[in-house]
Amino acid sequence: MRDKPFLILGGIVVLVVAIVAFAVGEKMGRAPAPHAAVATSAATSTPPPGARSAPAEEAPAGVQIDGIRRGVPVDKEGAPPLLARVENADIKRNRAYPMQPPTIPHSIDNYQIDKNSNRCLLCHARANADKFQAPPVSVTHYMDRDDQFLATISPRRYFCNQCHVVQTDAKPLVANTFKDVDTVLSEAKEH
Ligand code: HEC
Ligand code: HEC
Repeated sequence: MRDKPFLILGGIVVLVVAIVAFAVGEKMGRAPAPHAAVATSAATSTPPPGARSAPAEEAPAGVQIDGIRRGVPVDKEGAPPLLARVENADIKRNRAYPMQPPTIPHSIDNYQIDKNSNRCLLCHARANADKFQAPPVSVTHYMDRDDQFLATISPRRYFCNQCHVVQTDAKPLVANTFKDVDTVLSEAKEH
């Protein structure tokens, strides 16, 4: 074994290189830390030039596209918008397309819907509509998913508020250019 000293020497060299590499890597990995800290604290106080400037106030509903934060920067707390007022006027609103669930033209405060009772059906079930002069739910509400007609309301249509909402004076949350189907059709005819 004449090579033994060389082997030992080689081992030592490898070890020294590994230690140096580790030390350098360690230093490089940590070096940016102070700068990063400065950058974050700067971001919270004054945004760096070129960054998207945060609007000071919420954009009003209906004219912007951020319906959830309404333009308020993520590190600020926006004032929640006032609750919309429920309109209780018994006046139907137009449906924007044939299969739109009509909006509810009366208030539904405390109208319980659970496994045992459904307050809406008290008036809107086919069997009760005459007593309360309410429009009975349409035939689709008695159809199962295979289009078979059931004697009682279909489980798919049991939780009315899943599809029907009360009428409120709320402004549209996001700006949009929705047109109902009649407007689209009449515009198509003009061209
Ligand atoms: C006390 C009886 C009563 C109860 C309970 C009731 N409604 Fe009504 N609903 C009416 C009457 C009456 C109308 C007709 C318009 C009016 O007079 O307000 C109506 C209208 C509607 C309309 C409009 C239908 C259309 O063609 O535009 C919808 C939708 C509706 N109700 C859904 C509901 C839902 C959902 C519930 C339960 C959360 C409910 N209603 C509970 C009596 C009732
Ligand atoms: C899965 C969605 C959905 C659910 C759940 C639902 N509806 Fe509807 N509803 C509709 C749609 C869509 C229409 C309009 C087209 C139609 O008649 O199917 C409608 C129409 C109506 C109408 C007007 C009927 C007419 O002849 O103009 C009334 C009243 C109504 N629903 C009441 C209710 C009540 C009360 C419940 C709960 C028992 C309920 N709906 C559950 C989607 C739903």
